[in-house]
Amino acid sequence: MAEPIKVVVTGAAGQIAYSLIYQLAKGDVFGANQPIILHLLDIPNMMGTLEGVVMEIEDLALPLVRGVVATADPAAAFNGVEAAFMVGSMPRRQGMERKDLLSANVKIFKDQGEALDKYAKKTVKVLVVGNPANTNALICSKYAPSIPKENFSAMTRLDQNRAQAHVAAKLGVPVDHVKNVIIWGNHSSTQFPDVKHATAQINSATLPVYDAYKDTEYLKNDFVKTIQTRGAAVIAARKMSSAMSAAKAAGDHMKDIWQGTKPGEWVSMAVLSDGSYGVPKDVMFSFPVQIQNKEWKIVQGLELDDFSKSKLKITADELVEEKEEALSICNN
Ligand code: NAI
Repeated sequence: MAEPIKVVVTGAAGQIAYSLIYQLAKGDVFGANQPIILHLLDIPNMMGTLEGVVMEIEDLALPLVRGVVATADPAAAFNGVEAAFMVGSMPRRQGMERKDLLSANVKIFKDQGEALDKYAKKTVKVLVVGNPANTNALICSKYAPSIPKENFSAMTRLDQNRAQAHVAAKLGVPVDHVKNVIIWGNHSSTQFPDVKHATAQINSATLPVYDAYKDTEYLKNDFVKTIQTRGAAVIAARKMSSAMSAAKAAGDHMKDIWQGTKPGEWVSMAVLSDGSYGVPKDVMFSFPVQIQNKEWKIVQGLELDDFSKSKLKITADELVEEKEEALSICNN
């Protein structure tokens, strides 16, 4: 069996971490032969709750878990880690403006970027989940200059999973019969869920989703809105934000980084834009990517019509604006 790897989860006393840690502990993400040492970071006044989480990890009695470090000290949390799930952040409180939230969370990701830079392995793969995820990932990477920028990504996998599941339900097929759904842009309500290049296996035939589900107007309008607002719909029903599904998506995302994507398939994740598809450079933009040997490549050559281009522009403009706000917060 391999040597254990150190994996950090921030926001470890929170609700996403509660589901995520179990997946990590049972080998769903790094493989059934990869032991792990869990590093759990939260803020000082959550240490009591975190102690309870540690007890539960012990009680899982899972052989892949070779150690647990629960701490409020970023130096201990990020020390020697090879994978980082950056979930911890401040939730939006009543009366808080979007800008206040951005301000609070961007500072967390600046500080934790600096800590990753100092203490993590240079090969660490960093997945940012805490919102605003794309811009937090950009800031985290900026303050960790000794770690390659390609090692940072932000999560839009939950949006992808939502879109894939929605289409599968509409077509009456199992979810894994729908492939190559794309989420473009920001993990926010400006994201563009796109099934123009997606396929569905129906009986023994593989068809473009646009041919299988003939209502193009639906796919361009109501479908897009449904996915864009799915997070808000979950909050309205559960009175808390998506956690089980967010944790599953974080596991899916890191598993694909670790183990690669399947031939002919792609997944969506927010990575540093290189200008592909006319997206401005230097924002963390969700693209379709393929991954091999832990390195992602943006899928090239997909045709975008004017409708799609206009959707990409809206979400790119929002990311540029967020980036500027975030940089001005960091510089002050
Ligand atoms: P939660 O509020 O249950 O947990 C967050 C945890 O982070 C808390 O335990 C808190 O004490 C901790 N925390 C706050 N500041 C910290 C710091 N500086 N260092 C370490 N830990 C810190 O929230 P939940 O539901 O687990 O969500 C976490 C984040 O994930 C939120 O920002 C949420 O908006 C985001 N999210 C992102 C999704 C995505 O698709 N990208 C999907 C769902 C949620």
